[in-house]
Order: sequence, then structure tokens, then C-alpha cells
Amino acid sequence: MSAAEARVLAPVLPPEVVAAIEAEIPNYPVKKGAMMNSLHHVQKALGWIPRDAMVEVAALLEVRPIEVLEVVTFYPMFRDRPVGRHHLEFCRNLSCALLGSRQLIRHCEKRLGIRSGETTSDGKFSIGEAECLGSCGTAPMLMLEDHFHENLTVEKLDQLLDSLD
Ligand code: FES
Repeated sequence: MSAAEARVLAPVLPPEVVAAIEAEIPNYPVKKGAMMNSLHHVQKALGWIPRDAMVEVAALLEVRPIEVLEVVTFYPMFRDRPVGRHHLEFCRNLSCALLGSRQLIRHCEKRLGIRSGETTSDGKFSIGEAECLGSCGTAPMLMLEDHFHENLTVEKLDQLLDSLD
């Protein structure tokens, strides 16, 4: 991120998010320690983490914007692009893959008319893929709005999508 890109033209962080980040900072020996929780606050409020928000977080934590970008792009739970109001994050790692995650993703793509990584034109649904989400014993699974949907089948996935329609 260049210096020009690092300039924020208009703040994107709501005041309550700034307050939440400022409240995190005293919990750590250095401000940078509050990075993960700060980014969770941002994503919860905005649904994703725009570049301008990264710059604001960097200013609050007194780090370079590139350091925030590195964290956002390293951890799969952080999103650096907008997603739908209902973001279906399928685990694609070994246990889930062996038990049919690819077929579930294909079914979801067909039903919603989008590919993995895309958002429906009405902004309602998006599909993503993640590495192991730590629920291998109940594979295949997906995460939706911080909730795990486990032991998935095509029928269960259909029921879930019906409930969101
Ligand atoms: S492999 Fe899917 S949760 Fe671990």
C-alpha cells in the first residue's frame, strides 16, 4: 500500500468500532497486539474489511497499513472483499472433501446461479471456501454467520437455503 493509498479521504469505521478498538488496546503490552480483535470488530460491523478501514486500524494501532493488510490476507476468516448478506463458507479441507464438500459446493453454485467466490446480483448470497474450520469430526460442514452447519447433505443444504429465502 503506497503512501497515497494510505490516506483516508473519509473515515469508514463507525464511531462504535473505533471505541471498541480503543477499548481493546489497553489489554495488550503493545498496541499491535490488539490487531486480531480490532479486525473482528471491523468485520462484524461492515461485513468485510475495506482498504480504508485497514488504514484506520493501522493509525489506531500505530502500525503501517501493510501490516494490517498482511494479517487480513493471511487469515481466511477475514474478508478483504464484500460478500452477500448470507455468506456460505464451505470447508474444502481433507475430511470435508472426502465426505462430499465439492458436491455440496457445486449444488449450491447451481442453486444460487453463481460460482464459488461470487455474490448473487441481489447481494443476498455469496459462496466462499475455507481451509479446515476445525470441525472435522462433523464433516462436511460450512460456516454461516458464525454458526457451523455440520454433517451436511444436499438435503440439509437445501433446507438451510430454503430457510434463508
Ligand atoms: S476438514 Fe473440514 S472442518 Fe476440518
